[in-house]
Amino acid sequence: MSTQGKRTFRPALHFTPEKMWLNDPNGLVYENGRYHLFYQHYPNDTIWGPMHWGHAISTDLIKWKHLPIALYPDDLGYIFSGSAVYDKNNTSKLGSENIPPIVAMFTHHGKYEQQSIAYSLDGITFTKYKNNPVIPNTEIKDFRDPKVFWNPIKNCWGMVLAAGDRVHFFNSENLICWEKSGEFGPEGNYARGVWECPDLFPLETEDGTKWILLVSMGMPVEDRGSRTQYFIGQYDGNTFLSDHSFQQPEYIDDGFDSYAGVTYHNTEDRILIAWGINWQYADKTPTNDYCGMMTFPRKLSLVKTKQYGYRLVSKPVAWAEYITSKTLISSEDSLQSETFALHINGKDPFSMSFTNAEGQVLIFGIDERNNIFIDRSKSGTVDFSDVFAREKYSTLSIPRLQDGQYNIDILFDVCSFEMFVDGGLRNFSQVVYPDSPYNKITFTGNISVSYHEIIVE
Ligand code: FRU
Repeated sequence: MSTQGKRTFRPALHFTPEKMWLNDPNGLVYENGRYHLFYQHYPNDTIWGPMHWGHAISTDLIKWKHLPIALYPDDLGYIFSGSAVYDKNNTSKLGSENIPPIVAMFTHHGKYEQQSIAYSLDGITFTKYKNNPVIPNTEIKDFRDPKVFWNPIKNCWGMVLAAGDRVHFFNSENLICWEKSGEFGPEGNYARGVWECPDLFPLETEDGTKWILLVSMGMPVEDRGSRTQYFIGQYDGNTFLSDHSFQQPEYIDDGFDSYAGVTYHNTEDRILIAWGINWQYADKTPTNDYCGMMTFPRKLSLVKTKQYGYRLVSKPVAWAEYITSKTLISSEDSLQSETFALHINGKDPFSMSFTNAEGQVLIFGIDERNNIFIDRSKSGTVDFSDVFAREKYSTLSIPRLQDGQYNIDILFDVCSFEMFVDGGLRNFSQVVYPDSPYNKITFTGNISVSYHEIIVE
């Protein structure tokens, strides 16, 4: 179970459950001014158990209101991960012209993994469809995490589903009758593990529309555990074709703690939220009465790099209205708050650290070889899990994707440290558990740094 920590480590900007266990974000959908966030939830303990869908809503992706549990386990099984869409034209006929339904599609995890739907007319209470499952299965062992999207090529609903070491694609006119249209994988399965929580969506570029396929893959413990790979390619309305050569996997986040990230349906921007912890130690984090946190929501886009072609870029969504002050920081300064942003500009190597009264220290920077590094080995309580304390999970060093001048945005929030380098071309999410708040910042190197306190009431 979640270990007894010195503090509650409750972040101000990041979503956490009111109490008990949280893992993957589910059913990310926007409708009528509300962002819905459903999540894998076990309401009776701070460890994983029979899965429910927890629920919260927000108007700005920062302040969340907790709502009653949306979906409970039943005879078909636990309610595993899935997605939701706003069925504006009532294609499912589960609502009406005047009151279109939100339709959620999820995996029933019982003896088998099968796909089911539920709908809501008020966005709060959900009714399970009477003839579930809508995609029965008695053959494939791992068959889960349906992500529904609009298929503009066939003018119908599309869906991508993890099926063992690959994904399957489906199409539907009404969100109820689904027909399989194609498969992708297992090429590019660097982890050789089970594929989970896929997502497929288009992004515009100067070379036309490109499609991005996200696949979360549990890497072995020797290889940093939970990670989310992405492929860039084309979607023909039936299946996905990758532009990658599969030599080198690319991850949506190069930090230690980002998994099962998926994007919002029905928003103009492509906004992603991920589970901000690694399966390898998720149920041992020292957060007392709750366990689990989401990453800060980020907007995705594609940028053409000189050396590497198109790469996915992640930028945190705006928190500007919560910023109360801005000051320039000198090479040794005090930290006044536990929730703040830093902007760093420079072109030479630098190293920065946050320290607290106990002498615990979080270190990061850019080295002489143009690698971005992070060291959380002495950042706070690290011995709650032997995996967290391992070198592979304590220090990282990843090359930048461009040379010269850099800009870095940092979002620090009590126990969450997120770093966006070169406008988000590289980004890193990870948790740290300092026994008392970091109260000092120091750096070496020729950089300019501004500090912004963030207050969320
Ligand atoms: C990913 C995952 C999903 C599954 C869910 C169960 O973290 O394993 O594949 O639906 O968690 O909670």
